[in-house]
Amino acid sequence: MGNPFTVSLVSWHDGEPLLRAIRETVFIREQGVPEELEWDGLDENCRHALALSLQGEAIGCGRMLAKGHIGRIAVLPQWREQRLGTAIMETLLAEARAQGLSRVDVDAQTQALPFYRSLGFVEQGEVFMDAGLPHIKMTLEL
Ligand SMILES: CC(C)(COP(=O)(O)OP(=O)(O)OC[C@H]1O[C@@H](n2cnc3c(N)ncnc32)[C@H](O)[C@@H]1OP(=O)(O)O)[C@@H](O)C(=O)NCCC(=O)NCCS
Repeated sequence: MGNPFTVSLVSWHDGEPLLRAIRETVFIREQGVPEELEWDGLDENCRHALALSLQGEAIGCGRMLAKGHIGRIAVLPQWREQRLGTAIMETLLAEARAQGLSRVDVDAQTQALPFYRSLGFVEQGEVFMDAGLPHIKMTLEL
């Protein structure tokens, strides 16, 4: 059986309302990230991945900056543990390869370490705090 969702690459210009809705739900309301940190002004320069259910609801997202910095990976709670986060990452990793990048990195929340490890990312350096949450840099050679 195929996945009950699709993931596609969108620009901020085309995806903004849907991307904002997912990130407000997950980062601002669920995780308590301050709005001024969530909306950091970098979105217009990113490639975004947007996941839709077969009914067309926006259910997950992620973004990649030009140099292969991936972040803002979010899946709505009711859609977790169904490999949607993996599908979002695979879409961004395919884009990174298409751009000729040899390596990507994430600033992973430590609670999400197993997720990024499952994709082959490796921790680099020490844990640091960002937006009040512990993070660690992780990299993946493509
Ligand atoms: C982290 C997140 C994106 C994972 O998305 P997901 O769709 O649930 O992940 P997947 O189903 O693709 O998981 C793939 C693997 O990651 C691991 N994993 C995912 N979530 C996990 C969790 N909460 N705890 C431990 N392992 C986890 C599992 O090993 C899983 O493999 P499995 O299929 O063998 O169980 C999602 O939980 C989320 O949006 N969390 C809130 C926002 C967040 O923390 N974003 C990351 C910021 S750095």
